[in-house]
Amino acid sequence: MRNLTYLSFAAIFGACAGLALAQDTPAAPPPAKPPAAADPANGLAAWDKLFAVFSHPRCANCHVEDDRPRWSGSHYGAEQRVHAFNIQRGVGGRGSAGLRCTSCHFENNSAVLHGPPGAHDWHLAPASMAWFGKSSAEICAQIKDPARNGNRSLEAVAAHIRDDKLVAWGWAPGPGREPAPGSAEEAYRTLQAWTAAGAPCPGS
Ligand code: HEC
Ligand code: HEC
Repeated sequence: MRNLTYLSFAAIFGACAGLALAQDTPAAPPPAKPPAAADPANGLAAWDKLFAVFSHPRCANCHVEDDRPRWSGSHYGAEQRVHAFNIQRGVGGRGSAGLRCTSCHFENNSAVLHGPPGAHDWHLAPASMAWFGKSSAEICAQIKDPARNGNRSLEAVAAHIRDDKLVAWGWAPGPGREPAPGSAEEAYRTLQAWTAAGAPCPGS
């Protein structure tokens, strides 16, 4: 009986008020409109922004596959170079026993142009997390693979970008060095939008 009353109410007023009332009627829910971020095209656009960060010299110079940190980017000249002084990855990415990263890289940036940049516990990322010289599709697949991202969920990858001190350095790299594009907070939010859109990779 109540349903019947409701239906006739809806029929009369629905006809007059049109779409606006129809959308309020439980019997006719509005078509599910996905949030903007769930559009795969938006997901790929978000990934392009993330790729610009990961592949930037301030990030990629530490994320190498071999044992040599890189000196690349405009501050280091046109040629991409391996780090001078025959620096090696060593145990845990912290350099050789005789020449540790922290022999030169301190807690803060040197104020001198071409002086050593600094942040807490400066060391290379594991080779499994290599981005230097890799394509957008390769880096994208790696970021999503727990076997190659330090066993992280995408939420944990985003949190690492927002909170980690070495990552933060990429946006405050000291005199003469171009910072990574955007900000840590922006990259954090972009990674979340990319995740919400299904974390699409180029070519997939
Ligand atoms: C001084 C070296 C250094 C720099 C510079 C650096 N990283 Fe890393 N990065 C590391 C190390 C070391 C790890 C491994 C940390 C761990 O797993 O606990 C890491 C891990 C990561 C991870 C998690 C693993 C993965 O591959 O998903 C992300 C994400 C990341 N870095 C982002 C960045 C971004 C973005 C920048 C530039 C803004 C950057 N890093 C710059 C050293 C560096
Ligand atoms: C003998 C001193 C010394 C040691 C040891 C050393 N570095 Fe460096 N590093 C420097 C100096 C100086 C610069 C800056 C050069 C410049 O700006 O022209 C630099 C720059 C870098 C850069 C470039 C950052 C950028 O994108 O601008 C990375 C990456 C780096 N070092 C990583 C390491 C790692 C990892 C270790 C240990 C495995 C290490 N370094 C050990 C002196 C050192």
